[in-house]
Amino acid sequence: MRYITTPIYYVNDNPHIGHAVTTLAADVFARYERLRGDETFFLTGTDEHGAKIAEAAAKAGQEPKEFADAVSGQFSKAWESLGIAPDGFIRTTDPKHEAVVQQFLQQLYDAGHIYKGEYRGHYCVGCEEFKTETQLTEDGKCPLHPNQEIREVSEESYLFRLSAFQDQVRSAIERDEFSVRPESRKNEVLGFINHEGLRDVAISRKNVAWGIPLPWDEDHTVYVWVDALLNYLSASEADGPDFISEKRPQFPPSLQFIGKDILRFHAIIWPALLIASEKPLPKTLFVHGYFTINGQKMSKSLGNVITPEQLVERYGADATRYLLLKVVPFGADGDMSLERLDSLYNDDLANNLGNLVSRVVAMLVKYRDGRVPASEARAHSAIEFGEYAQSFDEVDPSGAAEVLQSAIDELNAYIQEKQPWALAKSGNEAELDAALAMLAESVFVLAVLFCPFMPEVGRKILAAFGTSIEHVNYATLESTNHTSGKTVSAIEPLFPRLA
Ligand code: MSP
Repeated sequence: MRYITTPIYYVNDNPHIGHAVTTLAADVFARYERLRGDETFFLTGTDEHGAKIAEAAAKAGQEPKEFADAVSGQFSKAWESLGIAPDGFIRTTDPKHEAVVQQFLQQLYDAGHIYKGEYRGHYCVGCEEFKTETQLTEDGKCPLHPNQEIREVSEESYLFRLSAFQDQVRSAIERDEFSVRPESRKNEVLGFINHEGLRDVAISRKNVAWGIPLPWDEDHTVYVWVDALLNYLSASEADGPDFISEKRPQFPPSLQFIGKDILRFHAIIWPALLIASEKPLPKTLFVHGYFTINGQKMSKSLGNVITPEQLVERYGADATRYLLLKVVPFGADGDMSLERLDSLYNDDLANNLGNLVSRVVAMLVKYRDGRVPASEARAHSAIEFGEYAQSFDEVDPSGAAEVLQSAIDELNAYIQEKQPWALAKSGNEAELDAALAMLAESVFVLAVLFCPFMPEVGRKILAAFGTSIEHVNYATLESTNHTSGKTVSAIEPLFPRLA
């Protein structure tokens, strides 16, 4: 089974497109795996404990749980509006998750991997993280949360013997037993381990009431990051038929998506916790970059936050999915703006894909009464199945989209060159049949390959051919014909012109 995860999102604020891009990537990969016939479980959810959430709730004049319920609902709603369909949505305030966290830590405590001590340091509530001097700016601020005060914390705390697992974590990463990708992120983590070494970390907080109590010492709550990381495990271990879904993912995850800001938690603390409890490690951790908007960090105070709803309203859900994964190569940091999204919409979707589909359908209707000529035609060789699959293997959805766009370029050029209208005029029926059959098959295959990105657009095109994605066998997509003799019905414009 393929088990794909996203970070679980803090419920201190509503979702924006930075959160959306990670979740979209996971949804696209889950759909791709299913298309290939692999059983897949895609998990996302919300991170609801800790000081950050308690303080946001207090500011809104609400109880933390009531506040978390509302914002968590906003995340579900945003994902639904983008056609994102997780198999499980986990919330850390679910008592079943809380029980797994308690059992897990009790077991580590009993095994001697956790001890009581004191933690002193600078704490950033925005990151929910203890910071070293070197992680702060010259004036002692967190670079990610320059408007918030760094708190000086000195408190009794339970610590996890992270230092004891340094060699095992390093070697798992070095040998790609736990594969951190892209390579630059793997080197970043190894560099950190080699230069700074791993120090024991706090797994509890004494003065944070909004959290899961430690089972052996109720004066402490579980440090929110440990609570959060364990969601990936509790989704598959917790009891109860209605926990997150009827199905259960099979641990460990095969592919975990995260943003670069939370690399150390996922590449160091997370595998160390698993090694300490003798659990298997995730296969791949994929780390992507950050979006900036017109060169600036997306932030409430700058007033440049873009929400998924805004984009869905402008482009529709499917186009938004495509644009967010294509506008900057997934993995890299990148800048975007509404102008760039508009021009990408026009270039890739309205003018390229939309135009190809409407031209081919219109020609079939005009010259053959909507009937695809009988033939054994395969899709155009410009549709590179191998490269498409390889892009997914390399966790490069932008690359997979690019493979499809180049094929569309070639197909549009083919139509220009072949001039089916001239063939029709001169009565060259055999050549016209051959051209139309190949074009119909190409459009069908492209619709299937676009399905992970744009499930609704794919559905509409396949419906015009009288079928649906569930009836398509990916393994025979390249080697057989699917459209011969089919009747094609007219199709509404897939990508309307922007206002
Ligand atoms: N709750 C923690 C994660 C716990 S996972 C066990 C957290 N939440 S978060 O809501 O602040 O951010 C989660 C993720 O959102 C980031 O890792 C990143 O994937 C994504 N992004 C948030 N802002 C982003 C951008 N501006 N650009 C791209 N991705 C961004 O951290």
